[in-house]
Amino acid sequence: DWTMAAYRDEKIAQIREQVGSAKVICGLSGGVDSSVAAVLIHEAIGDQLTCVFVDTGLLRKDEALQVTTLFREHYNIPLVHVDASKEFLGELAGVSDPETKRKTIGRVFIEIFDREAAKVEGAAFLAQGTLYPDVIESVSASGGPSAVIKSHHNVGGLPDFMKLKLVEPLRELFKDEVRALGRELGLTDAFVGRHPFPGPGLAIRIPGEITPDAVETLQQADAIYLEEIRKAGLYDQIWQAFAVLLPVKTVGVMGDARTYEKVLALRAVTSTDGMTADFFEFPWDVLGKTATRIVNEVRGVNRVVYDVTSKPPGTIEWE
Ligand code: XMP
Repeated sequence: DWTMAAYRDEKIAQIREQVGSAKVICGLSGGVDSSVAAVLIHEAIGDQLTCVFVDTGLLRKDEALQVTTLFREHYNIPLVHVDASKEFLGELAGVSDPETKRKTIGRVFIEIFDREAAKVEGAAFLAQGTLYPDVIESVSASGGPSAVIKSHHNVGGLPDFMKLKLVEPLRELFKDEVRALGRELGLTDAFVGRHPFPGPGLAIRIPGEITPDAVETLQQADAIYLEEIRKAGLYDQIWQAFAVLLPVKTVGVMGDARTYEKVLALRAVTSTDGMTADFFEFPWDVLGKTATRIVNEVRGVNRVVYDVTSKPPGTIEWE
C-alpha cells in the first residue's frame, strides 16, 4: 500500500535526522509495537541500534525464542537477550496482591533494563514503540520502559536510561496502522497480527501466588488454547484470547481415580481498542475440544471454564 510505504520512508528520514551518528537503545518487549519500532529504526540507522530484550520468564510458551530468532536470524539486528526469569520469579515469591505484582515487575524491569542499557557505550537515545493511544492513556498493552516508569517509578531519582532522549516513531499510529507498517517492513501477517500482551505478562493471569510450576502449567494450557483457536481459523476475529490459572481446586475423575486439581479459565474478547470489549461467542465444539485437550494433556488442571463477562463491567485481564 503506497501510503504506508511513503510513511515508512518519511519516518526513516526523520529518524536519521533526529539521531545523526549517535547510538540508540530499544527496549524490546516481544510484542508487535516494540518489534515494529525496532525494525523501522534498524532500517534507518543499521548497527547504531542495539535492542535490549528483558525476558521476564512471564511470556507465552516459545515467545521469547520466536522474538530472538526473528531479530537475530531474519533481520540480523543486534539483540541483547537478558534471561531474567529467576530474578522476576524470586522477587514475586509470596506476592499475591495484583497492584503489588505490577509494581514489583515494574521495579525489577527498570533495575535490569538500566543495568543492561548502561553497557551500551555511548548511547544517546532510547527507542520505544509508543502508540497514539498510549500517549493519551496510561494503561496500555504496549507501554515500554518509560510507560512502566510513569506508573511505577515517580518517587526518587530517575534511572540513568531515562535521561536518554526518546525516539518514538509510532507515536501517531493506531494499532492497525502499526500492523500495516510492520507488513510494509516485511514482517509476516502471523507476527504483526498477534494479540496484544500485557507487560506484566502471565503474572496477572495467575491470581494469587506465582510459582515456576504455575507459570509452566499456564504456558502449556495457554498454548493448547491458542493452537485450537488458530486451527479453527478464529484467531484474527479475536482481540485477545488467553488462559487464567485459578488458585482454586475442584474434584474431578480420571479413569477410576478421583482427582483434586486446579481450575483453568479461558477468556477471549472482541474489541477495537481494549477500552471496551465483548466476550467472544465461540462455537461450542472449539471450547469443548480445547477443554478436553487441556485436562488430558496438562498436569495439574482438571476443570476448564469460559469467562462470559464483557468490559465493562469486567476488565479484559483478571488482575
Ligand atoms: P484491562 O484488563 O484493563 O486491559 O481491560 C486493557 C488492555 O490493557 C492490557 N493491560 C496491560 N498492558 N501493562 C500493559 O502493558 C499492564 O499492566 C496491563 N494491564 C492490562 C490488557 O492486556 C488489555 O489489552
